[in-house]
Amino acid sequence: MASFESIKQVGVIGAGTMGRGIVMNFVNAGYPVTWLDVNGEMLEKGLEDIRGVYKRSVAQQRFDDAEAQARVSRITTTQNYADLADMDLVVEAVYENMDLKKKIFAELDKAVKASAVLATNTSYLDIDEIAAATQRPGQVLGLHFFSPAHIMKLLEVVRGKATGQDVMDACLAVGTKIGKEAVLAGNCHGFIGNRMLEKYSRQSREVVLEGSTPWQVDQALQGFGMAMGPYRMYDVVGVDLGWRSRQLAGVGRGEPIVWLDNKLCEMERFGQKNGHGFYKYEPGSRQAIHDPETDMLAREVAEEAGYTQRDVGGEEIVRRCILALVNEGARILDEGFAESAEDIDRVYLYGYGFPKERGGPMSYADSLGLDVVLEQIRELEASKGEFWKPAAGLAKRAEAGERFTKG
Ligand SMILES: NC(=O)c1ccc[n+]([C@@H]2O[C@H](COP(=O)([O-])OP(=O)(O)OC[C@H]3O[C@@H](n4cnc5c(N)ncnc54)[C@H](O)[C@@H]3O)[C@@H](O)[C@H]2O)c1
Repeated sequence: MASFESIKQVGVIGAGTMGRGIVMNFVNAGYPVTWLDVNGEMLEKGLEDIRGVYKRSVAQQRFDDAEAQARVSRITTTQNYADLADMDLVVEAVYENMDLKKKIFAELDKAVKASAVLATNTSYLDIDEIAAATQRPGQVLGLHFFSPAHIMKLLEVVRGKATGQDVMDACLAVGTKIGKEAVLAGNCHGFIGNRMLEKYSRQSREVVLEGSTPWQVDQALQGFGMAMGPYRMYDVVGVDLGWRSRQLAGVGRGEPIVWLDNKLCEMERFGQKNGHGFYKYEPGSRQAIHDPETDMLAREVAEEAGYTQRDVGGEEIVRRCILALVNEGARILDEGFAESAEDIDRVYLYGYGFPKERGGPMSYADSLGLDVVLEQIRELEASKGEFWKPAAGLAKRAEAGERFTKG
């Protein structure tokens, strides 16, 4: 039986962006961590990175140098799976590739003691398929951290169909111990946060095809209170990720909503990482600078896709992007992939920069009145079609005069 107390030693696999942050979470909370990567150079770079983060914390007087050294000394690096044998919990954070993850879980299953819990940090992949690569599916779950993982508070604790209740409880408690807002999520594509984000992203792109610009979209949503507009977020994540995966999948240009991304990538504008994406960046700076050329490219793409441009105002931008979140959140509730509307709100407050004063997307919908929300979604459905079909649970609550949250 797994329990909070039984988890004393933690293994982390993968020394990339996420692995580094995940390791810091555990060592900061006092757990010794054995850190594995097939690539020794990545481990060295990862350790260097972590030392740099702690050095900056010491300079900011968050803790002293002795504490920084103590944290680093809790990390042991390895390239050998046998060194994970005594771990109580292992968190995998390698490339987002099902075959690779299955291979690693099969190997881990043989290498690590029978009582250990095995977690994956996958963003989208099916936890059950990963669990099936092991002889212990009841001890496999998703622990989905958000980037940068040592800073973002959200942790989605994702239950597979076989995951034991003891394992869920233990990991929710460990999540709290490492300072996270741990939210239980079901195993659907993108879990709670990214599944909703897909709908929000689609709207952020459709309004641009219809006549808005990336800059206007960000201004409108930041005006609503989002910590970062979607286009600034695409620049942070890397515009090229989707473009490269479309190339690998051989889907050609994809739908018109991604043609602007394609165009930017063809011009080697990958985002913040190389100083130019939807926005421009001065060398060494993360300050996004409005680039009128992006607006021009957006117009070209929209014309090419056959759209007649119109003036899309800030109010429409906000309404469509936020209601897309609300409607998908309602669907997630209907399907039982979130336990409560409050949990969905926590995901958006702690993982996606939703404005605190609005309480999260579901609380925001409650504050508008679900009858108003339903009416607006029905209007959108009438003019734009199937995407806007209201979630059954939204319609039911609106018609009964109920709310999503307890309020
Ligand atoms: N980057 C994000 O913003 C983000 C956010 C949440 C979740 N995730 C998920 O986290 C996971 C890792 O993403 P990332 O961005 O940190 O990737 P990354 O590309 O930065 O790092 C992946 C690491 O895995 C290592 N690796 C590859 N094969 C290995 C193997 N067989 N054994 C051990 N190590 C191996 C690589 O050497 C590399 O260091 C993915 O599943 C991703 O979907 C990413």
